[in-house]
Amino acid sequence: MAISFQINGEEKNVYIRPAELLLDMLREQLGLTGAKPGCKNGDCDTCTVLINGKPIKSCLKLAIEAKGQAITTIEGLKNEPIQKAFVEKFAVQCGYCTSGFILNCHALLQIHPNATDEIIEDWLGSNLCRCMGYQEIKEAVKSLIEDNSSA
Ligand code: FES
Ligand code: FES
Repeated sequence: MAISFQINGEEKNVYIRPAELLLDMLREQLGLTGAKPGCKNGDCDTCTVLINGKPIKSCLKLAIEAKGQAITTIEGLKNEPIQKAFVEKFAVQCGYCTSGFILNCHALLQIHPNATDEIIEDWLGSNLCRCMGYQEIKEAVKSLIEDNSSA
């Protein structure tokens, strides 16, 4: 079946199979490989994308659920301050978890621009990093919160 949706600001029409996962459609049909398959079971958040600005696990969504929605992947977040903050705070090691973290952090900063430590920890609670870079990731988010409050 054919569906249409917006991806990183562009309208797309795609043919999908009824049981196709959103994660697989993004990677295999659109070549957007920034969303990574990790557990494929809702436990790691490497597959995170935004639907209408809210983070979701694309391994738990069917592609058909994208119909008529606005999806953002890591490829659509070029030049966003959160990408620069991750580099400056050395919040990337092997990088496998990074796109999921960046999308979740970006959404956090849009929804809670003055998030406390507790909110940050809660928000990122289901993102797993096997390289254990949690402290640097938190520092990257906090550096943008400090920038907001001193602006
Ligand atoms: S691959 Fe989706 S939550 Fe792990
Ligand atoms: S940077 Fe390696 S899994 Fe997070």
